[in-house]
Formats: sequence, structure tokens, C-alpha cells
Amino acid sequence: MDVIIQPTAARAEQLAAAIIAKALRAKPHLVLGLATGRTMEGVYGHLARLHREEGLDFAQCRTFNLDEYIGLGSGDPGSYRHYMREQLFRHVNLLPENTHLPDGLAVELDAECEAYEARIRACGGIDLQLLGIGRDGHIGFNEPLSALRSRTREKGLTRATREQNAAMFGGNANKVPARAITMGVGTILDSRRCLLLADGAEKARILALAVEGPITSMISASALQLHAHCTIIVDEAAASELEGTEYYRWILANEPEWAEFR
Ligand code: F6R
Repeated sequence: MDVIIQPTAARAEQLAAAIIAKALRAKPHLVLGLATGRTMEGVYGHLARLHREEGLDFAQCRTFNLDEYIGLGSGDPGSYRHYMREQLFRHVNLLPENTHLPDGLAVELDAECEAYEARIRACGGIDLQLLGIGRDGHIGFNEPLSALRSRTREKGLTRATREQNAAMFGGNANKVPARAITMGVGTILDSRRCLLLADGAEKARILALAVEGPITSMISASALQLHAHCTIIVDEAAASELEGTEYYRWILANEPEWAEFR
């Protein structure tokens, strides 16, 4: 795991987008795992700009989102399909048939979850999975006590998550759906590379626990310590409770992998 500290949230978002763009240029048929939420908006803004100004080409790219609320159709403004359309899909040349999210209106939810896993496998697995971290330490919607080997499934959301996501529902946590379909921790760990982005002081404590604390299903992001190629990008505020920052800064300043991003 590498922890890359950037001076501001804007620089952290820019770096995450640059890493995704590099992966896409190297492999035009990249299978890209996507996340939603406030933290990702800047990343998608940068990707849209790179497409517009530098011709970053998504024509062959396939995408898989981490999660979708159960009970919301793709036209619902609270749905993650709607979020993705507004934040990224309509700004780049992704083919609609190459964008995948779980179907929150599926009648047979277990079958939909199995089919989602099958679709990921049929595309050859996820090359690069973008992640945020929830206030309760979740990745995707893998709430506390999610099995570290879990696969795509239905999950009930914690009060903390529904409060965190209330802004998209008029500020009312009770209007945030109580259940979602989410890739499992095991599904996420199968990705060839994971890229987690976190900013702001309110993420500092949970991020330090996830990165430097013990691996525990109470904080599903801590499972990323098991991943062979995981990069955590944070701004100074989110890094403020980490203990190993001196070493993390040394890695960015000295390791050849990071030379082009300094
Ligand atoms: C969303 C998702 C979540 C978010 C996390 C952070 O698809 O998978 O894990 O990444 O809740 O959300 P924000 O960025 O809104 O703080």
C-alpha cells in the first residue's frame, strides 16, 4: 500500500484522475471500477476535461460501479445511475452498454447480484477500482461486519451512512434508502489495482484506523491492507491523524513509480 499526501483536496482529485487517465491510455479497453459520492465529483470533472481537451478516449472502456440503492430506478435523481450520468457518463464517450451498475429495481435481488459478478468476470475482472471511504469505514456499501470475503449482495445501511448521504435526498436521512446492492469486500480485493481517495478532516480518524490499524471487518477499508497494489490518495486534512506521514512523503519524493506525479 502507498499513501500519497497532497496539499489540497483539489490536488488529490487531480492526481487520482491522472492515474486513471494513464491506465486508460495504456489499456484502452480498461475495466474501470467506479465510486459515487462527494469525493469523486472532482475526479470525474478532471476526467471530463481530459476527454474534452486532450481527447482521453473512453470508447472501449468498460465501467462497473460499486453500488446502487435498492428501490431507485435509473431515472430517480437519488440513484447512482443518475449521479454517474450527470458527473461522468454524459461528458465522455463511454458507450452506454459498457457502463454497469447493479439494478436497484431488480425483482430477484440475489440473481441480480450473481449476474453482476458474472458480468465483471466476463469482462476479465476489474483493472482499476476507484474507492472512497465512508464515515463508518465502508468501501462500497460494505458496512461494519461485512465479511472480508463478501461478494456482491444486498446490504442494509447504517444510520451514519444514511446521514452522510442525506444531501442527495433533501438533507433528510430518513429518505435515504435503507438498503443497497454493493460489490463485496472480496469483489473489491479481486481488482488488479485499488485507488482510494479521501479528503477533509472528518475522514482523518477513520482513514488512520483503516490504513494503520488492525484489519477488521468493523472497518471494511482496512481490508485494503491485504491488497497487493493499493494506493491511498489523501489531502493534508485527511492525513492529519496518520502516524507514518514522514515515510509516506519519502515514498512520493523518491520512488520511481511516482516521479511523473510529483
Ligand atoms: C459510493 C461508495 C461509498 C463512498 C463513501 C464516501 O459509491 O461506494 O463507499 O465512496 O461513502 O462518500 P463521500 O465521498 O460522499 O464522502
